[in-house]
Amino acid sequence: MKELVIGFALLVAGCLLLFQLVDDSVLSGIFSLSSTQVTKADRLSVIYINNNCTKHNVTTNELPYHDLHMKWMAEEVTKENYAKANISLEAAYEYVDQIAIQITSQNLFGEKVYCHYFDSNKKKIGEPFESNVFPESVIYCLRRAGTNYVSLTKKPNDTPEYPIPLLDRTMEKPEHYFSVCIAPFFGTEPKWLMIAEFVEWYKLQGATYFYFYLAEMSLYDRIILDDYVRTGEAEVVIMHDRFDRPGDRWHMLEIHDCILRSRAHSKWAAFVDIDERLTMTQYKGTILDYLKNIGDKSIGSIQYRQRWIMKTEDQPEKYINATETVKWMTTQRYTNTSHVGPPGHTAKCIVRPETIGAMFIHYPRKFNPGFNQYGLTPEEGVVRHYRDQRFDNWGKTWIKEVAAFGPFEDTKLEENVSKQLVETVVKRVKYVYGKAQNGYK
Ligand SMILES: *[C@@H]1O[C@H](CO)[C@@H](O)[C@H](O)[C@H]1NC(C)=O
Ligand SMILES: *[C@@H]1O[C@H](CO)[C@@H](O)[C@H](O)[C@H]1NC(C)=O
Ligand SMILES: *[C@@H]1O[C@H](CO)[C@@H](O)[C@H](O)[C@H]1NC(C)=O
Ligand SMILES: *[C@@H]1O[C@H](CO)[C@@H](O)[C@H](O)[C@H]1NC(C)=O
Ligand SMILES: *[C@@H]1O[C@H](CO)[C@@H](O)[C@H](O)[C@H]1NC(C)=O
Ligand SMILES: *[C@@H]1O[C@H](CO)[C@@H](O)[C@H](O)[C@H]1NC(C)=O
Repeated sequence: MKELVIGFALLVAGCLLLFQLVDDSVLSGIFSLSSTQVTKADRLSVIYINNNCTKHNVTTNELPYHDLHMKWMAEEVTKENYAKANISLEAAYEYVDQIAIQITSQNLFGEKVYCHYFDSNKKKIGEPFESNVFPESVIYCLRRAGTNYVSLTKKPNDTPEYPIPLLDRTMEKPEHYFSVCIAPFFGTEPKWLMIAEFVEWYKLQGATYFYFYLAEMSLYDRIILDDYVRTGEAEVVIMHDRFDRPGDRWHMLEIHDCILRSRAHSKWAAFVDIDERLTMTQYKGTILDYLKNIGDKSIGSIQYRQRWIMKTEDQPEKYINATETVKWMTTQRYTNTSHVGPPGHTAKCIVRPETIGAMFIHYPRKFNPGFNQYGLTPEEGVVRHYRDQRFDNWGKTWIKEVAAFGPFEDTKLEENVSKQLVETVVKRVKYVYGKAQNGYK
């Protein structure tokens, strides 16, 4: 039995270089050796897979759904028009059929912009390509062979913004089945425990990846986020550009970006806030079980109705011990629960990113042709939303609307799930924040 150890892979000039400790006979079973050049130095083989770099060396000549996008643009779908800002590039994605660039400006809806292409040495490739901003902070561009970096300008001859690298989204199969997109963090309430409780909850529900967005956060809170990055369970996107804005104004940018980021990377992606826990109710199984059992391929989104659980205090500032951790976990501390909101009311969903034409916080504004949404019944699942009463004056204003849905009652998580959650949260926060007693002496 031959052993194959994949050391690491590097993307150089858009071509795949694999560094492996291998035996040639193993290789031939995996790659077509006729198109593979192998050089050997001791047991370290550097394999250059000369597939013409087809993966990253493709030119396309039409944008998918272009006419539909122009129609939606004319209807002003997703137009919010916040503030005044110039183009700022956040991220760029290369898919099989196109490139998408996410910007953090929200005042350029529908405007003409130009995509610029660069190779790995940041040398310009060809003439700029004319496109439009749609949805509100997204620009689709054709793929162009040899491109590693892209940029944008308002006029074709303007100096492009600093080019940014293309993130690879040309995978044939998504790496994750169920991931979670989380609204950007801002504000001063401590979040370390909320983050652990959130991540561990969704992991118990079968999620394997988390896309976090960060506008503002304490260094202490940041440590747990980075720890989830360390273990390959999360990435953190920094929301920053040179134009100031209130913390909540990053939200729609996250929504648009996470559709792009999760597309081809995750089969399903939930769009939620840190205080929202999508929960199956009478359905026996996890969220992942539910997703895997969706037979109807036209379903591009499943939507959960809301129940608000009254959170009345700030979260603790720092880790103390296990007892204090459990005491302050929102799922353990708060039980006063509103009646379920009506269908659609501030609902949250899990979507298949590639079916979405234009996304919103609570539902997809547009699906690509052939897809639609299924609304979960409250018997299948709801959002358990641990809503702070004081933030945004919620407990004085919104509460009236929520109280009108019906009576409040005490509800808890199902006992077994609750127990598992407590266990995993206590373990992780102790691991990350608990100081060992035997450091330098
Ligand atoms: C990329 O493709 C073009 C033709 O489409 C070809 O001329 C060029 O050699 C390719 N580059 C690499 C690095 O494979
Ligand atoms: C790329 O590979 C294909 C198939 O192996 C071959 O026919 C073609 O000539 C190659 N093109 C380049 C530019 O190397
Ligand atoms: C924004 O763009 C305008 C017009 O091109 C320019 O005058 C201004 O300096 C830019 N501001 C920043 C902060 O880039
Ligand atoms: C945990 O911390 C609290 C608050 O400091 C303290 O009262 C309690 O005794 C501690 N419990 C344990 C088991 O150390
Ligand atoms: C639950 O919350 C509602 C709304 O704030 C409040 O009116 C009610 O008294 C609370 N119930 C309990 C048992 O605390
Ligand atoms: C909870 O766990 C116990 C013991 O493992 C098991 O017997 C019981 O069926 C579980 N309950 C549910 C609702 O899963």
